[in-house]
Amino acid sequence: MRIGVLTGGGDCPGLNAVIRAVVRKGVSVYGHEFVGFRDGWRGPLEGDTMPLDIQAVRGILPRGGTILGSSRTNPMKIEGGVDRIKDNLASGGVDALIAIGGEDTLGVARQLSDRGVRVVGVPKTIDNDLAGTDYTFGFDTAVNIAMEAIDRLHTTAESHHRALICEVMGRHAGWIALHAGMAGGANVILIPEKPFDIDKVCEYVESRFRTRYSPIIVVAEGAHPIEGQMAVQTGELDAFGHVRLGGIGEVLAKEIEKRTGKEARTTVLGHIQRGGTPTAFDRVLATRFGLQAIDAVHDGAFGTMVALRGTEIVRVGLDEATAELKTVPVSRYEEAEVFFG
Ligand code: F6P
Repeated sequence: MRIGVLTGGGDCPGLNAVIRAVVRKGVSVYGHEFVGFRDGWRGPLEGDTMPLDIQAVRGILPRGGTILGSSRTNPMKIEGGVDRIKDNLASGGVDALIAIGGEDTLGVARQLSDRGVRVVGVPKTIDNDLAGTDYTFGFDTAVNIAMEAIDRLHTTAESHHRALICEVMGRHAGWIALHAGMAGGANVILIPEKPFDIDKVCEYVESRFRTRYSPIIVVAEGAHPIEGQMAVQTGELDAFGHVRLGGIGEVLAKEIEKRTGKEARTTVLGHIQRGGTPTAFDRVLATRFGLQAIDAVHDGAFGTMVALRGTEIVRVGLDEATAELKTVPVSRYEEAEVFFG
Protein backbone atom coordinates (compact mmCIF):
# COMPACT_ATOMS: atom_id res chain seq x y z
CA MET A 1 0.00 0.00 0.00
CA ARG A 2 0.99 3.63 -0.42
CA ILE A 3 0.00 5.54 2.70
CA GLY A 4 -0.13 9.30 3.22
CA VAL A 5 0.71 10.83 6.60
CA LEU A 6 -0.19 14.33 7.80
CA THR A 7 -0.04 16.35 11.04
CA GLY A 8 -2.69 19.04 11.54
CA GLY A 9 -3.64 21.72 14.08
CA GLY A 10 -1.42 23.05 16.84
CA ASP A 11 1.82 21.07 16.91
CA CYS A 12 2.96 19.23 20.02
CA PRO A 13 5.94 17.24 21.24
CA GLY A 14 5.70 13.62 20.09
CA LEU A 15 4.40 14.14 16.54
CA ASN A 16 7.73 13.05 15.07
CA ALA A 17 7.77 9.95 17.28
CA VAL A 18 4.42 8.89 15.76
CA ILE A 19 5.63 9.51 12.20
CA ARG A 20 8.79 7.50 12.88
CA ALA A 21 6.90 4.54 14.37
CA VAL A 22 4.36 4.49 11.51
CA VAL A 23 7.08 4.49 8.86
CA ARG A 24 9.47 2.11 10.63
CA LYS A 25 6.83 -0.57 11.19
CA GLY A 26 5.00 0.10 7.96
CA VAL A 27 8.12 -0.40 5.84
CA SER A 28 9.94 -3.10 7.79
CA VAL A 29 7.01 -5.27 8.88
CA TYR A 30 4.39 -4.69 6.17
CA GLY A 31 6.44 -3.47 3.21
CA HIS A 32 4.23 -0.40 2.70
CA GLU A 33 5.35 2.86 1.08
CA PHE A 34 4.73 6.31 2.54
CA VAL A 35 4.28 9.85 1.36
CA GLY A 36 4.28 12.86 3.66
CA PHE A 37 1.65 15.58 3.16
CA ARG A 38 2.89 18.99 4.20
CA ASP A 39 1.11 21.32 6.63
CA GLY A 40 -1.94 19.35 7.71
CA TRP A 41 -4.94 19.26 5.37
CA ARG A 42 -3.27 21.82 3.10
CA GLY A 43 -1.00 19.02 1.85
CA PRO A 44 -3.64 16.71 0.35
CA LEU A 45 -5.73 19.72 -0.67
CA GLU A 46 -2.92 21.14 -2.80
CA GLY A 47 -1.09 17.89 -3.51
CA ASP A 48 1.95 19.16 -1.59
CA THR A 49 4.01 16.12 -0.63
CA MET A 50 7.45 15.16 0.63
CA PRO A 51 9.32 11.84 0.65
CA LEU A 52 8.73 9.78 3.77
CA ASP A 53 10.96 6.73 3.93
CA ILE A 54 13.08 5.24 6.71
CA GLN A 55 15.91 7.65 5.93
CA ALA A 56 13.56 10.61 6.35
CA VAL A 57 12.57 9.52 9.86
CA ARG A 58 16.04 8.74 11.20
CA GLY A 59 16.90 10.71 14.34
CA ILE A 60 13.51 12.40 14.75
CA LEU A 61 12.25 10.56 17.86
CA PRO A 62 13.34 13.25 20.37
CA ARG A 63 12.62 16.23 18.12
CA GLY A 64 9.77 18.60 18.93
CA GLY A 65 7.47 19.98 16.24
CA THR A 66 6.73 17.97 13.12
CA ILE A 67 8.92 17.26 10.10
CA LEU A 68 5.72 17.40 8.00
CA GLY A 69 4.71 20.88 9.12
CA SER A 70 1.23 21.73 10.34
CA SER A 71 -1.60 24.18 9.70
CA ARG A 72 -5.15 24.84 10.72
CA THR A 73 -6.39 24.61 7.11
CA ASN A 74 -9.97 23.37 7.08
CA PRO A 75 -10.80 21.74 3.72
CA MET A 76 -14.48 21.64 4.68
CA LYS A 77 -14.51 25.46 4.49
CA ILE A 78 -13.07 25.42 0.97
CA GLU A 79 -15.30 25.09 -2.08
CA GLY A 80 -14.73 21.65 -3.60
CA GLY A 81 -12.19 20.81 -0.87
CA VAL A 82 -13.22 17.18 -0.43
CA ASP A 83 -13.11 16.46 -4.18
CA ARG A 84 -9.72 18.10 -4.48
CA ILE A 85 -8.37 15.89 -1.70
CA LYS A 86 -9.86 12.77 -3.30
CA ASP A 87 -8.40 13.69 -6.70
CA ASN A 88 -4.95 14.36 -5.25
CA LEU A 89 -4.96 11.06 -3.34
CA ALA A 90 -6.01 9.18 -6.47
CA SER A 91 -3.46 10.86 -8.75
CA GLY A 92 -0.70 10.30 -6.16
CA GLY A 93 -1.65 6.63 -5.87
CA VAL A 94 -2.35 7.06 -2.15
CA ASP A 95 -4.49 4.20 -0.82
CA ALA A 96 -4.98 5.42 2.74
CA LEU A 97 -4.24 8.31 5.09
CA ILE A 98 -2.99 8.53 8.65
CA ALA A 99 -4.12 11.85 10.11
CA ILE A 100 -2.42 12.91 13.33
CA GLY A 101 -4.31 15.69 15.03
CA GLY A 102 -6.74 17.00 17.60
CA GLU A 103 -10.49 17.52 17.49
CA ASP A 104 -10.42 19.75 14.40
CA THR A 105 -8.06 17.63 12.28
CA LEU A 106 -9.81 14.43 13.30
CA GLY A 107 -13.22 16.05 12.73
CA VAL A 108 -12.16 16.57 9.11
CA ALA A 109 -10.84 12.97 9.02
CA ARG A 110 -14.26 11.74 10.18
CA GLN A 111 -16.08 13.73 7.50
CA LEU A 112 -13.68 12.49 4.81
CA SER A 113 -14.12 8.93 6.07
CA ASP A 114 -17.91 9.38 5.74
CA ARG A 115 -17.24 10.37 2.11
CA GLY A 116 -15.20 7.26 1.36
CA VAL A 117 -11.62 8.33 2.12
CA ARG A 118 -9.71 5.54 3.88
CA VAL A 119 -8.35 7.22 6.98
CA VAL A 120 -7.06 6.28 10.44
CA GLY A 121 -6.66 8.94 13.13
CA VAL A 122 -4.01 9.42 15.80
CA PRO A 123 -4.94 11.72 18.70
CA LYS A 124 -2.56 14.54 19.61
CA THR A 125 -2.96 17.71 21.59
CA ILE A 126 -1.25 19.28 24.55
CA ASP A 127 -4.78 20.06 25.81
CA ASN A 128 -5.65 16.38 26.50
CA ASP A 129 -9.25 17.21 25.66
CA LEU A 130 -10.02 14.50 23.10
CA ALA A 131 -12.81 12.13 24.04
CA GLY A 132 -12.17 8.44 23.57
CA THR A 133 -8.59 8.43 24.84
CA ASP A 134 -7.37 8.66 28.42
CA TYR A 135 -4.35 10.70 27.34
CA THR A 136 -3.01 12.40 24.25
CA PHE A 137 0.74 12.69 23.76
CA GLY A 138 2.10 16.21 24.15
CA PHE A 139 0.08 16.76 27.31
CA ASP A 140 2.67 15.29 29.68
CA THR A 141 5.42 17.43 28.14
CA ALA A 142 3.31 20.59 28.39
CA VAL A 143 2.43 19.83 32.03
CA ASN A 144 6.09 19.28 32.91
CA ILE A 145 7.11 22.55 31.26
CA ALA A 146 4.38 24.41 33.15
CA MET A 147 5.26 22.65 36.42
CA GLU A 148 8.88 23.65 36.12
CA ALA A 149 7.84 27.24 35.46
CA ILE A 150 5.61 27.19 38.55
CA ASP A 151 8.47 25.83 40.68
CA ARG A 152 10.62 28.72 39.51
CA LEU A 153 7.85 31.26 40.08
CA HIS A 154 7.48 30.08 43.71
CA THR A 155 11.02 31.09 44.65
CA THR A 156 10.97 34.52 43.05
CA ALA A 157 7.43 35.22 44.33
CA GLU A 158 8.59 34.55 47.87
CA SER A 159 11.65 36.79 47.59
CA HIS A 160 9.48 39.71 46.51
CA HIS A 161 6.26 38.98 48.43
CA ARG A 162 4.28 39.09 45.22
CA ALA A 163 1.34 37.14 43.89
CA LEU A 164 2.47 35.51 40.68
CA ILE A 165 0.04 34.36 38.05
CA CYS A 166 0.97 31.68 35.53
CA GLU A 167 -1.25 31.61 32.44
CA VAL A 168 -1.22 28.28 30.64
CA MET A 169 -2.91 27.02 27.48
CA GLY A 170 -6.39 25.52 27.51
CA ARG A 171 -9.22 27.22 25.67
CA HIS A 172 -12.07 24.95 26.60
CA ALA A 173 -10.46 22.40 28.92
CA GLY A 174 -8.37 23.04 32.00
CA TRP A 175 -6.31 19.85 32.04
CA ILE A 176 -2.92 21.56 31.74
CA ALA A 177 -3.81 24.07 34.46
CA LEU A 178 -5.18 21.33 36.71
CA HIS A 179 -2.23 18.97 36.40
CA ALA A 180 0.52 21.60 36.35
CA GLY A 181 -1.16 23.45 39.22
CA MET A 182 -1.44 20.31 41.32
CA ALA A 183 2.10 19.20 40.52
CA GLY A 184 3.49 22.67 41.19
CA GLY A 185 1.55 23.32 44.40
CA ALA A 186 -0.47 26.27 43.08
CA ASN A 187 -2.59 28.14 45.61
CA VAL A 188 -5.44 28.58 43.18
CA ILE A 189 -6.18 26.92 39.84
CA LEU A 190 -8.67 28.51 37.47
CA ILE A 191 -10.09 26.52 34.57
CA PRO A 192 -12.59 27.23 31.77
CA GLU A 193 -15.01 24.58 33.05
CA LYS A 194 -15.62 26.46 36.31
CA PRO A 195 -16.21 30.22 36.19
CA PHE A 196 -14.27 31.71 39.08
CA ASP A 197 -15.36 34.00 41.88
CA ILE A 198 -12.84 36.86 41.99
CA ASP A 199 -13.69 37.58 45.66
CA LYS A 200 -12.79 34.00 46.54
CA VAL A 201 -9.56 34.18 44.52
CA CYS A 202 -8.57 37.31 46.44
CA GLU A 203 -9.37 35.58 49.75
CA TYR A 204 -7.03 32.74 48.79
CA VAL A 205 -4.35 35.27 47.87
CA GLU A 206 -4.68 37.10 51.18
CA SER A 207 -4.74 33.93 53.28
CA ARG A 208 -1.58 32.73 51.55
CA PHE A 209 0.19 36.02 52.30
CA ARG A 210 -0.88 35.72 55.96
CA THR A 211 1.02 32.41 56.19
CA ARG A 212 4.12 34.28 54.92
CA TYR A 213 4.10 32.43 51.62
CA SER A 214 3.46 34.01 48.26
CA PRO A 215 0.50 32.86 46.22
CA ILE A 216 0.87 31.28 42.81
CA ILE A 217 -2.26 31.34 40.69
CA VAL A 218 -2.42 29.03 37.70
CA VAL A 219 -4.99 30.15 35.15
CA ALA A 220 -6.00 28.49 31.90
CA GLU A 221 -6.25 30.95 29.00
CA GLY A 222 -9.96 30.15 28.63
CA ALA A 223 -10.87 30.68 32.30
CA HIS A 224 -13.37 33.43 33.03
CA PRO A 225 -15.08 34.95 36.04
CA ILE A 226 -18.63 34.30 37.16
CA GLU A 227 -19.76 37.84 36.44
CA GLY A 228 -18.81 37.87 32.76
CA GLN A 229 -16.05 37.44 30.24
CA MET A 230 -12.81 39.13 31.35
CA ALA A 231 -10.44 37.56 28.81
CA VAL A 232 -8.94 39.98 26.34
CA GLN A 233 -9.79 38.52 22.96
CA THR A 234 -8.39 39.65 19.65
CA GLY A 235 -11.68 38.72 18.03
CA GLU A 236 -9.75 36.89 15.33
CA LEU A 237 -11.03 33.44 14.39
CA ASP A 238 -9.04 30.59 12.91
CA ALA A 239 -10.36 28.32 10.11
CA PHE A 240 -12.15 26.18 12.68
CA GLY A 241 -13.86 29.19 14.27
CA HIS A 242 -11.81 29.38 17.48
CA VAL A 243 -11.27 32.81 18.98
CA ARG A 244 -7.63 33.59 19.78
CA LEU A 245 -7.39 33.98 23.52
CA GLY A 246 -4.78 35.48 25.78
CA GLY A 247 -4.90 38.09 28.46
CA ILE A 248 -6.87 36.62 31.35
CA GLY A 249 -3.65 36.47 33.42
CA GLU A 250 -3.02 40.21 33.01
CA VAL A 251 -6.63 41.09 33.77
CA LEU A 252 -6.48 38.93 36.87
CA ALA A 253 -3.24 40.54 38.07
CA LYS A 254 -4.75 44.04 37.82
CA GLU A 255 -7.88 42.93 39.64
CA ILE A 256 -5.92 41.23 42.44
CA GLU A 257 -3.72 44.30 42.90
CA LYS A 258 -6.76 46.55 43.02
CA ARG A 259 -8.62 44.40 45.51
CA THR A 260 -5.78 43.23 47.81
CA GLY A 261 -3.22 46.02 47.51
CA LYS A 262 -0.55 43.35 46.89
CA GLU A 263 1.70 43.39 43.87
CA ALA A 264 0.61 40.80 41.30
CA ARG A 265 2.48 39.91 38.10
CA THR A 266 1.74 37.55 35.25
CA THR A 267 3.80 35.09 33.22
CA VAL A 268 2.17 33.78 30.04
CA LEU A 269 3.79 30.48 29.06
CA GLY A 270 2.16 30.40 25.62
CA HIS A 271 3.84 28.35 22.92
CA ILE A 272 6.76 27.37 25.17
CA GLN A 273 4.35 24.64 26.33
CA ARG A 274 4.21 23.22 22.80
CA GLY A 275 7.87 23.42 21.84
CA GLY A 276 10.91 21.26 22.38
CA THR A 277 11.60 17.67 23.12
CA PRO A 278 8.90 15.30 24.41
CA THR A 279 9.04 13.61 27.81
CA ALA A 280 9.69 9.86 28.00
CA PHE A 281 5.96 9.29 28.64
CA ASP A 282 5.00 11.18 25.47
CA ARG A 283 7.68 9.47 23.35
CA VAL A 284 6.44 6.05 24.42
CA LEU A 285 2.75 6.91 24.01
CA ALA A 286 3.36 8.51 20.60
CA THR A 287 5.43 5.52 19.47
CA ARG A 288 2.75 3.06 20.59
CA PHE A 289 0.06 5.11 18.82
CA GLY A 290 2.14 5.06 15.64
CA LEU A 291 2.66 1.30 15.78
CA GLN A 292 -1.05 0.70 16.35
CA ALA A 293 -2.09 3.19 13.66
CA ILE A 294 -0.16 1.33 10.97
CA ASP A 295 -1.67 -1.94 12.24
CA ALA A 296 -5.13 -0.38 11.91
CA VAL A 297 -4.41 0.69 8.32
CA HIS A 298 -3.02 -2.73 7.53
CA ASP A 299 -6.16 -4.35 8.99
CA GLY A 300 -8.40 -2.02 6.99
CA ALA A 301 -9.88 -0.53 10.20
CA PHE A 302 -10.67 2.81 8.53
CA GLY A 303 -12.76 5.49 10.21
CA THR A 304 -11.11 4.70 13.54
CA MET A 305 -8.70 6.45 15.87
CA VAL A 306 -6.15 4.74 18.09
CA ALA A 307 -6.69 5.55 21.75
CA LEU A 308 -5.24 4.88 25.18
CA ARG A 309 -7.54 3.09 27.64
CA GLY A 310 -5.73 2.37 30.87
CA THR A 311 -2.46 0.96 29.57
CA GLU A 312 -3.86 -0.59 26.39
CA ILE A 313 -4.06 0.98 22.94
CA VAL A 314 -7.48 0.38 21.42
CA ARG A 315 -9.42 1.52 18.32
CA VAL A 316 -12.41 3.83 18.69
CA GLY A 317 -14.66 5.27 15.99
CA LEU A 318 -13.68 8.74 14.77
CA ASP A 319 -17.28 9.76 15.39
CA GLU A 320 -17.03 8.80 19.08
CA ALA A 321 -13.63 10.50 19.38
CA THR A 322 -14.85 13.80 17.93
CA ALA A 323 -18.40 13.87 19.31
CA GLU A 324 -17.54 16.04 22.31
CA LEU A 325 -14.59 17.52 24.16
CA LYS A 326 -13.24 15.79 27.24
CA THR A 327 -13.35 18.49 29.89
CA VAL A 328 -12.27 18.42 33.54
CA PRO A 329 -14.97 16.78 35.68
CA VAL A 330 -16.14 18.54 38.85
CA SER A 331 -14.72 15.75 41.03
CA ARG A 332 -11.21 16.25 39.63
CA TYR A 333 -11.37 19.99 40.30
CA GLU A 334 -12.58 19.34 43.84
CA GLU A 335 -9.47 17.23 44.51
CA ALA A 336 -7.30 20.23 43.63
CA GLU A 337 -9.47 22.67 45.63
CA VAL A 338 -8.39 21.02 48.91
CA PHE A 339 -5.03 22.77 48.47
CA PHE A 340 -6.34 26.25 47.56
CA GLY A 341 -5.57 29.24 49.77
O1 F6P B 1 -4.91 23.10 20.79
C1 F6P B 1 -3.61 23.33 21.15
C2 F6P B 1 -3.39 24.76 21.54
O2 F6P B 1 -2.05 24.91 21.94
C3 F6P B 1 -4.32 25.33 22.61
O3 F6P B 1 -3.97 25.01 23.93
C4 F6P B 1 -4.24 26.79 22.34
O4 F6P B 1 -5.39 27.45 22.80
C5 F6P B 1 -4.14 26.85 20.85
O5 F6P B 1 -3.60 25.62 20.43
C6 F6P B 1 -3.30 27.98 20.35
O6 F6P B 1 -3.29 27.94 18.96
P1 F6P B 1 -2.36 28.82 18.02
O7 F6P B 1 -0.96 28.33 18.19
O8 F6P B 1 -2.87 28.55 16.65
O9 F6P B 1 -2.51 30.22 18.47
